[in-house]
Amino acid sequence: MLDKVKELSEEVRLFKSVSKDEIESFRIKYLGTKGLLKELFSEFKNVDPALRKDFGQALNSLKKATEEKVRFLNDSLENSDDENGSYGDLTRPGEPIRLGSQHPISIVKNKIIDVFNRVGFTVSEGPEIEDDWHNFTALNLPEYHPARDMQDTFFIDEDPDILLRTHTSSVQVRYMENNEPPIRTVSPGRVFRNEDISARAHCIFHQVEGLYIDTDVSFADLKQTLLYFTKEMFGTSKIRLRPSYFPFTEPSAEVDIYWGLETETDYRITKGTGWLEIMGCGMVDPNVLKNCNIDPSVYSGYAFGMGIERIAMLLYQIPDIRMFYENDIRFLKQFKSVL
Ligand code: DAH
Repeated sequence: MLDKVKELSEEVRLFKSVSKDEIESFRIKYLGTKGLLKELFSEFKNVDPALRKDFGQALNSLKKATEEKVRFLNDSLENSDDENGSYGDLTRPGEPIRLGSQHPISIVKNKIIDVFNRVGFTVSEGPEIEDDWHNFTALNLPEYHPARDMQDTFFIDEDPDILLRTHTSSVQVRYMENNEPPIRTVSPGRVFRNEDISARAHCIFHQVEGLYIDTDVSFADLKQTLLYFTKEMFGTSKIRLRPSYFPFTEPSAEVDIYWGLETETDYRITKGTGWLEIMGCGMVDPNVLKNCNIDPSVYSGYAFGMGIERIAMLLYQIPDIRMFYENDIRFLKQFKSVL
């Protein structure tokens, strides 16, 4: 009988588990109302009186050890999250492998790409370190053009000008230089501006640029594409185009979607108007086409550009842009689902 208790004590000592279920079945097996310990306690009366003391003691310490083991296993399971920097039991099996989640910027970027893919846009990328030509001059922003000041630039080298691109419009230029029309492409990427960091602005953020060049492309084509995009992305086709100015498009517009005015948050983010600006767009300026060796008497096109953070903040109601870059796991864990 004593041997049996010793055997069980050894089993309890060696027991290892990584799952709640396993720990629970272990607990039931030993400590449950029909468990092994209950059974052994009921054997007590059959034990030789001379051995009862030892048996009783062994049994009690087995019970205590088992209870402690269950508590220990449950505790280490709860505390085994990487968040508190503990690796726990290094001998435990490597599985289950915990999956990470997609970053909200990636989720929104992929969704934007997916919407444009469905109407024939390819994806193109360009370098983050750019020259003056691709970031400014070819886009109709010659040296000393006042609109250069709209985008405070991080320069890497001043002669010749090498810089961190201030927008993904630079990829338009590269794409037109290297491809013949018809062109239909979206260019996602990271951009840089020498700006103070605040809840609404950051010096590093992401944009998606769009470009469509063919014969007879009109503003009506642009508007139709925008309607399709806002319907797919935000579930609304209620948009308005406000005349604006960008050096690389003529005419230019800013696109607002009707967000609504149902909640207090709606009032706050739309400044009481119900409308929200989501991107800039326009017909590609003939000078830009010329700079990229495309004949503006044959071809025309439209372009648009939007900030990914801004759209992600709207869709997920994220109040502060800095949250995207802090990599706080409690924030990132919330974005498991694809939109
Ligand atoms: N490049 C602009 C920016 O960074 C966004 C933009 C506006 C892109 C209008 C375009 C466009 O292609 O047509 O603010």
